[in-house]
Amino acid sequence: SLPRDLAGCSIVVSAGGTRESLDPVRFLGNRSSGKQGYALARLAVQRGARVTLVSGVTAGLEPPAGAHVVQVTTAEQMQDAVRAHTATADVVIMAAAVADFRPDSMAESKIKKVQDEPATITLVQNPDILAGIVEQRAAGDLPATRVIVGFAAETGDEHGDVLTHARSKLQRKGCDLLVVNAVGEGKAFEVDSNMGWILRADGGESALPLSSKNLMASRILDAVGTLLFTG
Ligand code: PMT
Repeated sequence: SLPRDLAGCSIVVSAGGTRESLDPVRFLGNRSSGKQGYALARLAVQRGARVTLVSGVTAGLEPPAGAHVVQVTTAEQMQDAVRAHTATADVVIMAAAVADFRPDSMAESKIKKVQDEPATITLVQNPDILAGIVEQRAAGDLPATRVIVGFAAETGDEHGDVLTHARSKLQRKGCDLLVVNAVGEGKAFEVDSNMGWILRADGGESALPLSSKNLMASRILDAVGTLLFTG
């Protein structure tokens, strides 16, 4: 059986993708299945934590037993739900793939095709949920929150660009841990396996070899536990 090393700990996990409506039948979305975030939520429950799973759109995943699940669709709804539960959370893990942009307005009826005319969509920026949590904590508004985990899905040469981008993302985002996924065939989005690195704010780095998303979740929670219990 699993260690109950996270007993007494309250964790918010976001998972899945957000969807931003263009009109009543169309949306902008992404390929996140929710598998990585759901694996984290399920395992955190099994290791004794109280877990709120803020779930965007997934590939029809079953809610993990024992987690409090809040379903959302858009990035703004995800921000509201994450914020509502972060005030009492020891740990926040942002595994969701949040849309950086949304259409500036949603058309009330289906957008019509105009013969031979290109169409233009104007996008506006969504709030950065992770950056908002980091700011709130820096302002002293989240006294309970001790570990903030961001994810980064990066394309590029695994041993060069990916880590370089990720190190600067960790600095920019200001979280305590950044889980870096190398996007490609058989890893990250949609599939059951994943690989990457865990970067710590203090400069420490460890590799996450190609494995199931469950094993990946277990290594991520180990790193969270280390920060929680040894500072
Ligand atoms: O769902 P799966 O199919 O299992 O795939 C898992 C995954 C690849 C989606 C997941 O492991 C992952 O990497 N999620 C982050 C995807 C991503 O592209 O992140 P990003 O680089 O856009 O964002 C960086 C971080 O900021 C993330 O923690 C993200 O949740 C957060 N963010 C991003 C944009 C935004 N507006 N608000 C945010 O909070």
